[in-house]
Amino acid sequence: MPDEQRSTEGMVDYNRNSAMQQQLVNHHAGCIRDLVRRIGSVQREFRVVDYGCGPGQSAVDAVAPAIEAYRALDPVTPISVCHADQPGNDWNSLFELVSGPSGYLAPFIRSGAAVGSFYDRMAADGSVDLGTCFMASHWLSHAVRLDAPGSVWFADLKGKARADMAALARNDWIRFLDCRASELRSGGYLLVSCLGAVPDDGEINGIAASGRKVYRAIDSVAQEMADEGLIDQAVLDRFVFGVWFMTAHEARSPLETEPELAEAFEIEDIKVVPAPSNPSDIYADVIGDPAEYARLYVGYVRGFGHSTLQRQLFEPGAANGRSADDIAQAFYRRLGERYTQNPGKHAGETWYLTVVLRKR
Ligand SMILES: C[S@@+](CC[C@H](N)C(=O)[O-])C[C@H]1O[C@@H](n2cnc3c(N)ncnc32)[C@H](O)[C@@H]1O
Repeated sequence: MPDEQRSTEGMVDYNRNSAMQQQLVNHHAGCIRDLVRRIGSVQREFRVVDYGCGPGQSAVDAVAPAIEAYRALDPVTPISVCHADQPGNDWNSLFELVSGPSGYLAPFIRSGAAVGSFYDRMAADGSVDLGTCFMASHWLSHAVRLDAPGSVWFADLKGKARADMAALARNDWIRFLDCRASELRSGGYLLVSCLGAVPDDGEINGIAASGRKVYRAIDSVAQEMADEGLIDQAVLDRFVFGVWFMTAHEARSPLETEPELAEAFEIEDIKVVPAPSNPSDIYADVIGDPAEYARLYVGYVRGFGHSTLQRQLFEPGAANGRSADDIAQAFYRRLGERYTQNPGKHAGETWYLTVVLRKR
């Protein structure tokens, strides 16, 4: 089922299309400060790792509250910040921000990177005081190909396809937690926050997952293009975004049932809540301007989804001699039309999953 392609390498236009991610990171600033206070002063160096940091301002915003809170506790001990992400991350842009006017570089703060996958080890044993991971761990470890006609995303899958993907998602979450359990030092904290899902009896599979109407709009445009012979139906039938937005129960379950995880972590908090601003429509503020509303949604989908769509749907699925770029252009134009014609119908709803764990 999985192949060796990472699920998110090469996300495009990150800083421009990541208002929702920035909001999530900033929402947790108070929690980050509080965790640093609870960790307290350390002896040699205070070490923060931000897993799945991305290339944008949110990577700086994720660590700035930790630096500020630690400096208030201890003005002299060095601080080490490690930004951890995949090889394809735009590292140059990130370190320009880190060292620029909105960055955090200062005496006795060193900044570095860990390049790899957070489903593998990214730091030395017992070396991390505070680990954070924002809007990243809902991406599975690998691109997913399933026999899954009728939907391009996890929450609408049925039968065996749903069960296979659920197993993959659970294994990935366990793998992520196992790695962090080794890397955190005793008394350290892990804060993970990403898109989540909530129970909803009226929904397929009994859950309402973040972005459901956006993914269904993507699905309906792709299906329309397959019906017109522009995308190969067989490729579409096997295409699924490699994401899984957990419910609080799914996030908690392995921490209670896997003996090594239960021993490694104390659960401080696991919850799924609506986003504090615009939970029912990310771009509600501009709904009165349909052209702008559509532009923002298309930018949003391109931002998180283009590399996946291009590699897994447009390139292998471009039919009748058309190029993948032509198919991509037609896809985004049609998606934009959906948003212009019916503002609100395909609105992006957002629930945040937040997990706070203390390493025993
Ligand atoms: C939506 S961005 C979030 C970036 C940033 N944390 C934020 O909140 O704005 C997701 C990031 O997770 C990274 N990512 C996804 N899967 C990963 C993995 N297996 N290992 C490391 N990073 C990963 C992607 O490369 C991308 O930079």
